[in-house]
Parts: sequence; structure tokens; C-alpha cells
Amino acid sequence: MKTAGMGKAGKLPPPAPLRKLPRTAGFPLHNACSPARFAALFGLMPLLKVTDLRTYFHTRTGVYRAVDGVGFHLERGETLGIVGESGSGKSVTVHSLMGLIPRPPGRIESGSAVFDGVDLLACPPAALRSIRGKRISMIFQDPMTSLNPYLRVSDQLIEPLLIHEKISKAAALDRALAMLEAVGIHDAARRIHSYPHEFSGGMRQRVMIAMALITRPELLIADEPTTALDVTVQAQILELIKKMQGELGMAVIFITHDLGVVSGLCDRVLVMYAGRIVESADTRTLFYHPKHPYTRALQRSIPSTQPKGAELFTIPGLPPDVSKPIAGCAFTPRCVYATEFCKTRDPGLLPVASGHDQACLRVQAGEL
Ligand SMILES: Nc1ncnc2c1ncn2[C@@H]1O[C@H](COP(=O)(O)OP(=O)(O)OP(=O)(O)O)[C@@H](O)[C@H]1O
Ligand code: SF4
Ligand SMILES: [Mg+2]
Repeated sequence: MKTAGMGKAGKLPPPAPLRKLPRTAGFPLHNACSPARFAALFGLMPLLKVTDLRTYFHTRTGVYRAVDGVGFHLERGETLGIVGESGSGKSVTVHSLMGLIPRPPGRIESGSAVFDGVDLLACPPAALRSIRGKRISMIFQDPMTSLNPYLRVSDQLIEPLLIHEKISKAAALDRALAMLEAVGIHDAARRIHSYPHEFSGGMRQRVMIAMALITRPELLIADEPTTALDVTVQAQILELIKKMQGELGMAVIFITHDLGVVSGLCDRVLVMYAGRIVESADTRTLFYHPKHPYTRALQRSIPSTQPKGAELFTIPGLPPDVSKPIAGCAFTPRCVYATEFCKTRDPGLLPVASGHDQACLRVQAGEL
């Protein structure tokens, strides 16, 4: 199991200004005239708005409330970080949006996820497939999840272009080559015809990024894309994602268990614990003025925020079993500030300042 907050932290830059981009791509006809679509077109709505998402797994050993009432929004061109320990529901959140939850045992119990006027949780499978292949892309932690070991990289890169853009094979190959060069594959003209196993781990990750970006998506979801890589390659891949985001102007959801990584990359951050968001704020506020005790503990466990030679702080205990009832705040057994009051009710995510929400009862009561 991964531990909280392990990894390096960059010096915190001021959060990048949000880039508002005009929407030009097409949209499914069945949604063409909906009020939501109209609002999206005129920039009245965020690119993505998730409301009250609940995804449970119904297993023989119980019902696991993996995601339990998550809501957030993402503006065009914005980078949103989602952090939290292993099992906090980060991947299940984004897999729910992408229609990747195995059913059974998974089930989306409630919620909506409106992407540019289209509810991803309610739209027909064919419409979701077409959005997923072109307008939303995903990079997984393990490149082999996306790469087919039996197909040449060239064939895998051009496939989405042939399906979604209906361009000629020669034009698709030109685009694929340009994309491989853009993600830093040397000698791309020769290597494009190689099989995935002929690339090193870091290079495979670059190929996967090229695959995710080749359709010029409006939203890239990167689920711990660097965890399996060594530190130097990690830094290169993060830099590459940032550079490609700048070039393509896309929004990014960046998932990590490492709060340090989000500091140099994200405009805003959501902190997840036991299937819920416990704090959300712009990156600078979250780092310099965290409110929730869990966020503060995560921050203390970033090595570079500690004095030299100090023992690395780790959060004691383990996250709760989300198949069992939880009385009050789920962080109670591990929280240094916990009192009996914390078990009395379920904390909601409430604003502490404009754009800054948190879910600690004692902060809400003005005690912390
Ligand atoms: N296929 C499944 N069957 C049963 N429960 C599942 C399944 N997939 C996920 N879960 C439950 O959902 C919880 C959240 O899982 P998720 O993969 O979203 O965690 P995560 O935050 O992405 O963790 P990590 O950092 O390890 O990737 C798990 O702890 C588990 O209880
Ligand atoms: S509600 Fe209590 S247990 Fe939960 S984070 Fe706040 S102080 Fe800690
Ligand atoms: Mg995960």
C-alpha cells in the first residue's frame, strides 16, 4: 500500500491563470438543443460539473461505498489535482465518469457528470464511447493497461484518428509521427513501427501520453501516470504533460497520492478521504492555509517541507473500511484533534472562504 504524501515537492509557484478557451468541436446531435448545451456553448457552465456522485461495489463481503457523494467542477484549460491515500476513491471517481466501472460488482447509485452539456452518466453508450475516444482521454498508471502488446505503436496511434476523424491512413501516420516527436521519442520515424515491449518504461509512458493526446482532447485525465517510474523520469513526464497542456489548451485532472506533485502542476486541488472530498481550494491556499486536519497531515508528510534530518511524518493508522457504517467524521480514529463531538454527525463540505471548502466539524464550529 502507498503511504500518504511520499515524494518530492517542487517550490510552489503562483497558480496559473485559468485559460478560457472557445469550444469548437462538434457535439452529439441528441443534445444539440438542450438548455445545458446552450449554456455550455456560451461559457455559462464549466467544462465538467460532477454532482453527488456515488459509486458503490456490491460484493459478498458487503457494500463498499468507494465514492460517496463527490461533487466538483472543472473549467476549460484548468488543471485539477485529486489527492488522497490509497483506497480513497480517486480512481473510482474518474472511472465512473469514463464508464469504466465493472458492473457488477460496481454500480453508480446517484449523481451526474455534465461534460460540455452532456451528462456522461446518462448518455447512450455509443455517445459516451465517442466522447471518450476523442474529447476526453485518459493516461493510466501502467502503460500496458492502454497499449496492446501485439500491435505496433503506429497502428495503435492512428486507430482513434481513423475512427473519429475519418482521415486517410497517410495523414493519420503523419499526425502520429508528429505526436511521437512532440512527446520526446527520439528517432520517431523508425521507432513508430516498434512494438510496446521494445520501449523502456519511461518511453512507453511517453507513447501512452502520445496516444491520449493524439485526438487533441479537451480533457485529459492522468491517473497516477508517474508512480511506476523512477524520480528523474517522473519529473520529465510531469514536465511533458504540462508542456502539452500549454500547447493544446486542454483541461487536466491529475490524480496522485503525492501532495508534493500537485504543487507545481495544478490550479486547484481536491483532497479525498474515504470516498469523499474533505477539502478543496486553489493550490496556493491548500498549501499555505489548509484547514482540514487530514490535509494538514498530508502536508506534513511531504519530505521537502520538513527540516533537514527530521524524521518523516506518516499519518498513524489506516483509512476506514468503507463497507462498515462510519459514525460522524471518517478521520476521527486517526485525527489528533478528534473529540467526542466529531462522532456526533456527518460533516458536510462547507465553504470557509470563497472557493475554499472543507469538511471538519471542529473547523466549522470555529474550534480549530
Ligand atoms: N472492483 C472492485 N470491487 C470491490 N471494491 C472495489 C473495486 N474497485 C475499487 N473498490 C473499492 O473502492 C475503493 C477505492 O478504490 P480506488 O481505486 O478509487 O482508490 P484510489 O484512491 O484510486 O487508490 P490508489 O491510490 O491505490 O490507486 C477501494 O478501497 C475499494 O474498497
Ligand atoms: S471533525 Fe474531528 S476528527 Fe474530523 S477532522 Fe475535524 S477534528 Fe478531526
Ligand atoms: Mg487509483
